[in-house]
Amino acid sequence: MSTKRVLSGIQPTSDSFHLGNYLGAVKQWVELQDGHDAFYCIVDLHALTVETDPALMRKRTLVSAAQLLALGISPEKSTLFVQSHVPEHNQLAWVMECITGFGEASRMTQFKDRSAKGGTDSTKVGVFTYPMLMAADILLYQADLVPVGEDQRQHIELTRDLAERFNSRYGATFNIPSGFILKQGAKIYDLQNPTAKMSKSSDSVSGLIEILDSPEINAKKIKSAVTDAGREIKFDEKEKPGVSNLLTIHSALSGQKISDLENHFSGKGYGDLKGEVADVVVEYLKPIREKTLELLSDEAHLLAMLSKGAAKAHEVSSTTLAKTYSNLGLVR
Ligand code: TYM
Repeated sequence: MSTKRVLSGIQPTSDSFHLGNYLGAVKQWVELQDGHDAFYCIVDLHALTVETDPALMRKRTLVSAAQLLALGISPEKSTLFVQSHVPEHNQLAWVMECITGFGEASRMTQFKDRSAKGGTDSTKVGVFTYPMLMAADILLYQADLVPVGEDQRQHIELTRDLAERFNSRYGATFNIPSGFILKQGAKIYDLQNPTAKMSKSSDSVSGLIEILDSPEINAKKIKSAVTDAGREIKFDEKEKPGVSNLLTIHSALSGQKISDLENHFSGKGYGDLKGEVADVVVEYLKPIREKTLELLSDEAHLLAMLSKGAAKAHEVSSTTLAKTYSNLGLVR
């Protein structure tokens, strides 16, 4: 049996990844790099859909690379690269746009949410075509598995539809990928509003645990997390979303089963739960923060690693693009 190919991406749109990014996606990236042929991409072109100061854009791309390494991505085991270093992403995105229906793209929730908030007139065309660029990211590498959080499910479905459509019109070209989405942890919730996903674009940062924030700030945020009515500590996402979110975070980082945690906290109060989750998170993130800062001090090393990654990515992406163009009848 041949080794399965994995691809995933993350946007450099923030000064730090948050716990949702890690538990929903990057933790699986680290696990999947053993035994799979893994490609991980910092999707800087996708990040252009949010207007950012150029100096900040550059800084965030490097911080993203350093964080991914500190979180456990190994450049020996996987191919880590920056999307804009590999021009085939844009080239295949155009092909994807040419086989996507306008209505189909209009139904993507990310576009619907952003245009509902800001109005269609000011919503960028890039937000509309975003999912087709993402489909290109995935299909260029003939990925089998795409480890992502729950919020990306719709984009993966679209990618599968586009791949099937292309293959049936122009002949077998793309592998049909599957999402790799956890049952538990695929959606980490905001600590202050535990029915909304933890997100860098939420109105307030008080419910967001940033990997690179100081231990004091993160501990304080967890200790002030919103909990639920009642006193019992049990996992019940409907009735107790706040407590369930804290149990999910604890379990994902400590490796203890949720049922064991429920037993452990039996007879204890919400304060005990929050205190212990704060300790678990702070201890877990401490070495990651230190390692990230250390890696950032050697920018040349990071750039050389990314350049090697781009060369490896290009070998695969150029082969897929050549096959795509040829199947489309573009004269070579
Ligand atoms: P992005 O950059 O918003 O998020 C990166 C990853 O983190 C996951 N995630 C979460 N998981 C659980 N709980 C949360 N609260 C939470 N918030 C974010 C996301 O699901 C994602 O897996 N469109 C993608 C980036 C992308 C991509 C790709 C992904 C571009 N091309 C190709 C896979 C394959 C995005 O905006 O992720």
